[in-house]
Amino acid sequence: MTKGRKKGDQTHMGKVAIYPGSFDPLTYGHIDIVERALAIFDKVILAIAHDAEKKPLFTVQERVEMAKLIFKDTPGVVVDSFKGLLVNYVEKSNAKVILRGLRATSDFEYEYHMASMNRSLNVHLDTLFMMTSKDYFFVSSRTIKEVAKLGGTVEGLVPDLVARRLKEKFKLPVGERRLIGWDD
Ligand code: PNS
Repeated sequence: MTKGRKKGDQTHMGKVAIYPGSFDPLTYGHIDIVERALAIFDKVILAIAHDAEKKPLFTVQERVEMAKLIFKDTPGVVVDSFKGLLVNYVEKSNAKVILRGLRATSDFEYEYHMASMNRSLNVHLDTLFMMTSKDYFFVSSRTIKEVAKLGGTVEGLVPDLVARRLKEKFKLPVGERRLIGWDD
């Protein structure tokens, strides 16, 4: 670290991106975005929204714990949670960039509205979009939950830890677990 610069002082720690989301749960699509963003940013803060209105399957504590385990060996990734307005959290983190993944054009309108609202709330912040890799363009947390709940396989689309936690949440009978390849 450069002389005179304090550890934790993000204004002197290079390029920081805040990657916000519900991450309910984290998928390989999200992980792919984080890994590619690390080629551009020195630090990516995965900011997990409390947002109780969306009635998440996993509590924010569970989502944070899973993400911390998944990224424990990935330098440059910090897992955190936030309540309230995203722009306030970004400002507090001394970051200037909000990172979001874009899958299909269907994501665009929602993302465009959100980025425009955030920019109207704070003109100094920008939203950067990264296209999801082709392997994951059809993967969303919502469909992962639906498939897992109905006993389909989510193998290869979410980390094993997430697959196990989904299995616990939905408490599938043993026979069904074997069918979907989770009973290892
Ligand atoms: O993964 P998601 O659910 O699409 O993420 C949406 C999220 C959490 C980024 C968004 O809902 C958000 O920023 N929530 C915090 C509240 C806020 O700032 N709302 C104004 C943005 S339009």
